[in-house]
Amino acid sequence: DKGGWSSFMAKEINEQPEAVENTVRGRVVDGLVDIPELSALGDDRLREIDRIIIIACGTASYAGQVGSYAIEQWARIPVEVQLSHEFRYRDPVLSDRTMVISVSQSGETMDTLMAVKYAIERGVTTVSVCNTQSATIPRESDAAVYTHAGPEVAVASTKAFTAQITALYLIGLHLGRVRGTLSAEASAEAVQQFAELPEKMREAVATHEQIAQLAHWMADTRSVLFLGRHVGYPIALEGALKLKEIAYIHAEGFAAGELKHGPIALIDHGQPVFVLVPSPRTAPLMHSKVVSNIQEIRARGARVIAIVEVGDTAVLPYADDVIRLPLADALFEPLLEVVPLQWFALELSTAKGLDVDQPRNLAKSVTVE
Ligand code: F6R
Repeated sequence: DKGGWSSFMAKEINEQPEAVENTVRGRVVDGLVDIPELSALGDDRLREIDRIIIIACGTASYAGQVGSYAIEQWARIPVEVQLSHEFRYRDPVLSDRTMVISVSQSGETMDTLMAVKYAIERGVTTVSVCNTQSATIPRESDAAVYTHAGPEVAVASTKAFTAQITALYLIGLHLGRVRGTLSAEASAEAVQQFAELPEKMREAVATHEQIAQLAHWMADTRSVLFLGRHVGYPIALEGALKLKEIAYIHAEGFAAGELKHGPIALIDHGQPVFVLVPSPRTAPLMHSKVVSNIQEIRARGARVIAIVEVGDTAVLPYADDVIRLPLADALFEPLLEVVPLQWFALELSTAKGLDVDQPRNLAKSVTVE
């Protein structure tokens, strides 16, 4: 049941404030993050972990990339992200102090399941971040941290993505608490950010109208670029993937700093570029670098669509369109920034007369390797 929405994807984009709320529910006790499924592994085991490898595919791997910044910051454990289907073939360095965290909405993705089985055979601790109750991957893993986003029907993942980021952040906060690397202030600040998140996400969802107009004018676009830095980088990759998947438009995401190392040659008159602009309050250095990136591409004719936090006026002289999002701590910005990009893909797909929920050549769950 689409609940009055034109597509499941539209419904699921709209459900994100509740989805992230449900992921957090029951996991904050007396102002501290406590995930019972992780506690069950034993605090000693969690304290011994010296390396985390996140394995996932597609959108889930971008959630993993966003999560890797937060886990490193809060738990001070080195985290790397590997695509599930690449993991085994590199003969990864693993030990009994390694934790492998798989991220999968369906919990049935064969590439990810095979990577998890490989990890289990090598004696590492396996944690599954999954949305589907009792799916194969969480059943095989040592611990399952469910996202509780509710069933996701549209092939293009939206609410599962933001719930995956949320779950990975909770894991980072849990590990940081147990290992003593997380200050009381940082912990309280993150818990406060989670409390404010649903309301801010509702504001992000409300960018729909503005995005629909933008997409209307861009229905003939043949290529779109996305730029981001830090946690904005995986969001740029996700914005591009969404567009490929459901609007069949060539799109690429880049780390903004990488632009001058090649991709800037792509910029030509009228080339649409979405830029995820870090907050000038919480990340002034990154902010000024991204503003200069915008100046560089604008000087070469790019059509700049800037996604900024409300009150950021630095980009106004150089942006053709500005999408404003509520203030949030740097690590929480991705959870807001991705929403207008989801709407953009949906609206361009609709403008092209395509079936948003059932893109060609794709299935909701990829059960072959
Ligand atoms: C993107 C998308 C895919 C999945 C990927 C992993 O919108 O749907 O990229 O994210 O196939 O699927 P799960 O999370 O079920 O393992």
